[in-house]
Amino acid sequence: MHRLATLDDLQAVYALYMHEEVVPYLGHDPMPLAEFRAIMDELVASRSFYVVERDGQVRGFYRLSRHAGRARHGAYLGTFAVAPSERGTGLAASIIGDVVSRLRRDGVRRLELMLEADNPRALRFYEKQGFEFEGRLRNAYRRSDQDHDVDELLMARLL
Ligand SMILES: CC(C)(COP(=O)(O)OP(=O)(O)OC[C@H]1O[C@@H](n2cnc3c(N)ncnc32)[C@H](O)[C@@H]1OP(=O)(O)O)[C@@H](O)C(=O)NCCC(=O)NCCS
Repeated sequence: MHRLATLDDLQAVYALYMHEEVVPYLGHDPMPLAEFRAIMDELVASRSFYVVERDGQVRGFYRLSRHAGRARHGAYLGTFAVAPSERGTGLAASIIGDVVSRLRRDGVRRLELMLEADNPRALRFYEKQGFEFEGRLRNAYRRSDQDHDVDELLMARLL
């Protein structure tokens, strides 16, 4: 089940976001829960941040936003992760399938995302989901525990 996140999801979202196999590929460096609260406040307030539950537990999340004006037929997927225990189970693919169905119903014709160039698992996953490489943002990303910048890749799928 996909639903908009609420502040009650703070602990579950924090635990998944900060997992050592997840946090290297999301937008923020590791931080204490007290600091993450402000990020969660923003995510919830955006009304574009969804959690995915299985058996009543949060097993994944993503942010889905629509562009505006002349780009309004496009949407952006970000902050996407599934629990490491759910990798390879098809959950991530089913989330993309659900997102795409909802977007198509709303007349959206283009879904974009960005990923780090050193995330081969995600790259392979998105290619299998029909996303194509569209461009590279050089040195756009930096983790606080590393001494080099990382490129970000822009991918999109036409719906
Ligand atoms: C990205 C993510 C959502 C994909 O979900 P998943 O369940 O792991 O994806 P799948 O297992 O269905 O597919 C991954 C593919 O990459 C392959 N793969 C795994 N490790 C790989 C590696 N090091 N190099 C290349 N391919 C790799 C898998 O074999 C699989 O391909 P296959 O189906 O052809 O065998 C999930 O791994 C995740 O949450 N990762 C952490 C957060 C993240 O990276 N989010 C993306 C931010 S843009």
